[in-house]
Amino acid sequence: MPPQDDVVKARLKALEEVLKIVEYEKPKIIGLGSGSTISLLIDRIANLGLNNLSFVCSSIGSSLRLSSYGFKVLSLESVDQVDLYVDSADEVDPNLDMVKGGGGCLTLEKILAYNSSMRIFVVDYGKLVDRLCLRRPIPLDVIPQAISMVCRKLRSVGFRPEVRLTDRGKFGPLISDIGGVLVDLYIDGGVDNPGKLDMMLKSIPGIVETGLFIGYADLLVVGYPDKVIFKRGKT
Ligand code: A5P
Repeated sequence: MPPQDDVVKARLKALEEVLKIVEYEKPKIIGLGSGSTISLLIDRIANLGLNNLSFVCSSIGSSLRLSSYGFKVLSLESVDQVDLYVDSADEVDPNLDMVKGGGGCLTLEKILAYNSSMRIFVVDYGKLVDRLCLRRPIPLDVIPQAISMVCRKLRSVGFRPEVRLTDRGKFGPLISDIGGVLVDLYIDGGVDNPGKLDMMLKSIPGIVETGLFIGYADLLVVGYPDKVIFKRGKT
Protein backbone atom coordinates (compact mmCIF):
# COMPACT_ATOMS: atom_id res chain seq x y z
CA MET A 1 0.00 0.00 0.00
CA PRO A 2 1.43 3.43 -0.94
CA PRO A 3 1.65 6.09 1.82
CA GLN A 4 -1.70 7.83 2.42
CA ASP A 5 -0.30 11.28 1.55
CA ASP A 6 0.88 10.01 -1.83
CA VAL A 7 -2.48 8.36 -2.44
CA VAL A 8 -4.38 11.60 -1.89
CA LYS A 9 -1.90 13.58 -4.01
CA ALA A 10 -2.17 10.98 -6.79
CA ARG A 11 -5.96 10.95 -6.72
CA LEU A 12 -6.22 14.74 -6.80
CA LYS A 13 -3.82 14.90 -9.74
CA ALA A 14 -5.84 12.32 -11.68
CA LEU A 15 -9.13 14.03 -10.82
CA GLU A 16 -7.89 17.32 -12.29
CA GLU A 17 -7.47 15.50 -15.62
CA VAL A 18 -10.95 14.04 -15.32
CA LEU A 19 -12.36 17.52 -14.72
CA LYS A 20 -10.67 18.72 -17.93
CA ILE A 21 -12.42 15.92 -19.82
CA VAL A 22 -15.75 16.82 -18.22
CA GLU A 23 -15.32 20.45 -19.25
CA TYR A 24 -14.38 19.42 -22.80
CA GLU A 25 -17.14 16.81 -23.27
CA LYS A 26 -19.87 18.97 -21.68
CA PRO A 27 -22.06 15.98 -20.77
CA LYS A 28 -25.76 16.74 -20.31
CA ILE A 29 -26.03 14.05 -17.66
CA ILE A 30 -23.05 12.87 -15.69
CA GLY A 31 -23.20 9.64 -13.69
CA LEU A 32 -21.11 9.42 -10.55
CA GLY A 33 -19.84 6.35 -8.76
CA SER A 34 -19.14 5.96 -5.06
CA GLY A 35 -16.29 5.91 -2.61
CA SER A 36 -13.55 8.14 -1.28
CA THR A 37 -12.11 9.05 -4.71
CA ILE A 38 -15.51 10.11 -6.03
CA SER A 39 -16.16 12.02 -2.82
CA LEU A 40 -12.99 14.03 -3.55
CA LEU A 41 -14.30 14.65 -7.07
CA ILE A 42 -17.63 15.89 -5.73
CA ASP A 43 -15.81 18.27 -3.35
CA ARG A 44 -13.74 19.59 -6.26
CA ILE A 45 -16.82 20.04 -8.49
CA ALA A 46 -18.43 22.02 -5.67
CA ASN A 47 -15.31 24.18 -5.19
CA LEU A 48 -15.24 24.96 -8.89
CA GLY A 49 -18.97 25.83 -8.81
CA LEU A 50 -19.83 23.66 -11.83
CA ASN A 51 -23.55 24.37 -11.44
CA ASN A 52 -24.42 23.63 -15.05
CA LEU A 53 -24.03 19.84 -14.65
CA SER A 54 -26.88 17.38 -14.06
CA PHE A 55 -26.01 14.36 -11.96
CA VAL A 56 -27.30 10.88 -11.40
CA CYS A 57 -25.67 8.81 -8.66
CA SER A 58 -24.88 5.17 -8.06
CA SER A 59 -25.30 5.40 -4.31
CA ILE A 60 -27.19 7.17 -1.59
CA GLY A 61 -23.80 8.34 -0.24
CA SER A 62 -22.81 10.18 -3.42
CA SER A 63 -26.33 11.66 -3.81
CA LEU A 64 -26.27 13.01 -0.27
CA ARG A 65 -22.80 14.51 -0.72
CA LEU A 66 -23.86 16.30 -3.92
CA SER A 67 -27.10 17.48 -2.31
CA SER A 68 -25.18 18.84 0.68
CA TYR A 69 -23.47 21.23 -1.75
CA GLY A 70 -26.82 22.27 -3.20
CA PHE A 71 -26.57 20.26 -6.43
CA LYS A 72 -29.74 18.73 -7.83
CA VAL A 73 -29.51 14.97 -8.29
CA LEU A 74 -31.72 13.18 -10.81
CA SER A 75 -33.40 9.98 -9.68
CA LEU A 76 -32.04 6.91 -11.39
CA GLU A 77 -35.43 5.83 -12.67
CA SER A 78 -35.95 9.18 -14.41
CA VAL A 79 -32.86 8.72 -16.59
CA ASP A 80 -32.56 6.23 -19.47
CA GLN A 81 -29.03 7.08 -20.55
CA VAL A 82 -25.96 8.77 -19.15
CA ASP A 83 -23.51 10.81 -21.25
CA LEU A 84 -20.46 10.34 -19.08
CA TYR A 85 -19.90 8.05 -16.11
CA VAL A 86 -17.02 8.62 -13.69
CA ASP A 87 -16.07 6.15 -11.00
CA SER A 88 -13.13 4.59 -9.22
CA ALA A 89 -12.19 0.97 -8.51
CA ASP A 90 -10.59 -1.18 -5.84
CA GLU A 91 -8.29 -3.07 -8.23
CA VAL A 92 -7.52 -2.78 -11.94
CA ASP A 93 -5.60 -5.42 -13.92
CA PRO A 94 -3.59 -4.95 -17.15
CA ASN A 95 -6.73 -5.64 -19.31
CA LEU A 96 -8.53 -2.89 -17.37
CA ASP A 97 -10.81 -5.46 -15.78
CA MET A 98 -11.71 -4.25 -12.31
CA VAL A 99 -12.97 -5.19 -8.89
CA LYS A 100 -15.36 -2.73 -7.29
CA GLY A 101 -17.70 -2.68 -4.33
CA GLY A 102 -15.17 -2.34 -1.53
CA GLY A 103 -17.27 0.58 -0.30
CA GLY A 104 -20.43 -1.52 -0.48
CA CYS A 105 -21.78 -0.10 -3.76
CA LEU A 106 -21.70 -2.09 -6.98
CA THR A 107 -25.10 -2.92 -8.51
CA LEU A 108 -26.21 0.63 -9.26
CA GLU A 109 -22.64 1.46 -10.34
CA LYS A 110 -22.73 -1.29 -12.93
CA ILE A 111 -26.16 -0.25 -14.18
CA LEU A 112 -25.04 3.35 -14.66
CA ALA A 113 -21.72 2.38 -16.23
CA TYR A 114 -23.44 -0.04 -18.64
CA ASN A 115 -25.86 2.65 -19.79
CA SER A 116 -23.30 5.40 -20.23
CA SER A 117 -21.93 6.57 -23.59
CA MET A 118 -18.47 7.08 -22.09
CA ARG A 119 -16.99 5.52 -18.95
CA ILE A 120 -13.98 6.94 -17.17
CA PHE A 121 -12.43 5.20 -14.18
CA VAL A 122 -9.97 7.10 -12.05
CA VAL A 123 -7.60 5.44 -9.60
CA ASP A 124 -4.37 6.06 -7.74
CA TYR A 125 -1.40 3.91 -8.73
CA GLY A 126 -1.85 1.69 -5.66
CA LYS A 127 -4.96 0.16 -7.28
CA LEU A 128 -3.05 -1.37 -10.21
CA VAL A 129 -2.52 -5.13 -9.89
CA ASP A 130 -1.19 -7.90 -12.14
CA ARG A 131 -3.95 -10.29 -11.11
CA LEU A 132 -7.34 -9.54 -9.55
CA CYS A 133 -8.27 -10.65 -6.03
CA LEU A 134 -4.92 -11.85 -4.76
CA ARG A 135 -5.25 -9.40 -1.89
CA ARG A 136 -8.95 -8.65 -1.65
CA PRO A 137 -12.32 -10.32 -2.16
CA ILE A 138 -14.97 -9.88 -4.85
CA PRO A 139 -18.01 -8.15 -3.32
CA LEU A 140 -21.38 -9.66 -4.23
CA ASP A 141 -24.86 -8.16 -3.83
CA VAL A 142 -27.11 -11.01 -2.72
CA ILE A 143 -30.87 -11.31 -2.18
CA PRO A 144 -31.21 -11.59 1.63
CA GLN A 145 -33.44 -14.68 1.62
CA ALA A 146 -30.94 -16.54 -0.58
CA ILE A 147 -27.91 -15.87 1.58
CA SER A 148 -27.42 -19.35 3.09
CA MET A 149 -28.00 -21.16 -0.21
CA VAL A 150 -25.72 -18.83 -2.15
CA CYS A 151 -22.93 -19.20 0.43
CA ARG A 152 -23.26 -23.00 0.46
CA LYS A 153 -23.00 -23.09 -3.35
CA LEU A 154 -19.95 -20.81 -3.32
CA ARG A 155 -18.23 -22.94 -0.68
CA SER A 156 -19.00 -26.10 -2.66
CA VAL A 157 -16.93 -24.81 -5.59
CA GLY A 158 -13.96 -23.94 -3.37
CA PHE A 159 -14.51 -20.24 -2.64
CA ARG A 160 -14.63 -18.56 0.77
CA PRO A 161 -17.72 -16.34 1.09
CA GLU A 162 -17.98 -14.01 4.09
CA VAL A 163 -21.09 -12.00 4.83
CA ARG A 164 -19.91 -8.42 5.34
CA LEU A 165 -20.92 -7.18 8.80
CA THR A 166 -21.35 -3.61 9.91
CA ASP A 167 -18.65 -2.51 12.31
CA ARG A 168 -20.91 -0.06 14.15
CA GLY A 169 -24.40 1.41 14.11
CA LYS A 170 -26.24 -1.78 13.25
CA PHE A 171 -25.98 -5.37 14.34
CA GLY A 172 -25.68 -7.89 11.53
CA PRO A 173 -24.97 -7.84 7.78
CA LEU A 174 -24.26 -4.70 5.80
CA ILE A 175 -27.26 -3.95 3.58
CA SER A 176 -26.54 -2.60 0.10
CA ASP A 177 -28.22 0.43 -1.53
CA ILE A 178 -30.67 -1.94 -3.24
CA GLY A 179 -31.52 -3.85 -0.05
CA GLY A 180 -29.21 -6.79 -0.70
CA VAL A 181 -26.74 -8.44 1.67
CA LEU A 182 -23.09 -7.88 0.81
CA VAL A 183 -20.96 -10.99 0.62
CA ASP A 184 -17.18 -10.80 0.18
CA LEU A 185 -15.88 -13.69 -1.85
CA TYR A 186 -12.28 -14.71 -1.19
CA ILE A 187 -10.55 -16.75 -3.87
CA ASP A 188 -7.20 -18.32 -3.03
CA GLY A 189 -4.60 -17.46 -5.65
CA GLY A 190 -6.71 -14.72 -7.25
CA VAL A 191 -8.83 -14.88 -10.41
CA ASP A 192 -7.72 -16.67 -13.59
CA ASN A 193 -10.42 -15.56 -15.98
CA PRO A 194 -12.46 -12.67 -14.55
CA GLY A 195 -15.04 -12.68 -17.38
CA LYS A 196 -15.77 -16.40 -17.02
CA LEU A 197 -15.96 -16.13 -13.25
CA ASP A 198 -18.38 -13.20 -13.49
CA MET A 199 -20.71 -15.24 -15.73
CA MET A 200 -20.49 -18.25 -13.42
CA LEU A 201 -21.32 -16.15 -10.35
CA LYS A 202 -24.22 -14.42 -12.11
CA SER A 203 -25.66 -17.83 -13.00
CA ILE A 204 -26.23 -18.59 -9.30
CA PRO A 205 -29.80 -17.59 -8.40
CA GLY A 206 -29.77 -15.04 -5.58
CA ILE A 207 -26.59 -13.24 -6.69
CA VAL A 208 -27.92 -9.98 -8.08
CA GLU A 209 -24.59 -8.50 -9.11
CA THR A 210 -20.86 -8.99 -8.71
CA GLY A 211 -18.07 -6.48 -8.17
CA LEU A 212 -16.25 -7.74 -11.27
CA PHE A 213 -16.39 -5.01 -13.92
CA ILE A 214 -15.27 -6.58 -17.18
CA GLY A 215 -14.74 -4.37 -20.22
CA TYR A 216 -16.36 -1.35 -18.59
CA ALA A 217 -13.45 1.10 -18.70
CA ASP A 218 -13.30 3.20 -21.88
CA LEU A 219 -10.58 5.24 -20.25
CA LEU A 220 -8.55 4.62 -17.11
CA VAL A 221 -6.91 7.65 -15.53
CA VAL A 222 -4.12 6.63 -13.15
CA GLY A 223 -2.76 9.19 -10.75
CA TYR A 224 0.77 9.17 -9.34
CA PRO A 225 2.07 11.83 -6.94
CA ASP A 226 3.95 13.49 -9.81
CA LYS A 227 2.21 12.40 -13.02
CA VAL A 228 -0.96 11.02 -14.60
CA ILE A 229 -1.17 8.13 -17.04
CA PHE A 230 -4.07 7.38 -19.39
CA LYS A 231 -4.96 3.87 -20.54
CA ARG A 232 -7.61 3.20 -23.18
CA GLY A 233 -10.01 0.27 -22.90
CA LYS A 234 -10.36 -2.28 -25.71
CA THR A 235 -13.87 -1.22 -26.82
C1 A5P B 1 -17.75 1.53 -4.05
O1 A5P B 1 -18.26 0.42 -3.43
C2 A5P B 1 -16.68 1.07 -4.98
O2 A5P B 1 -17.11 0.44 -6.10
C3 A5P B 1 -15.65 2.13 -5.25
O3 A5P B 1 -15.65 2.60 -6.52
C4 A5P B 1 -14.32 1.55 -5.07
O4 A5P B 1 -14.43 0.77 -3.91
C5 A5P B 1 -13.22 2.57 -4.91
O5 A5P B 1 -13.42 3.27 -3.71
P1 A5P B 1 -12.37 4.28 -3.12
O6 A5P B 1 -12.33 5.45 -4.03
O7 A5P B 1 -12.92 4.61 -1.78
O8 A5P B 1 -11.07 3.58 -3.04
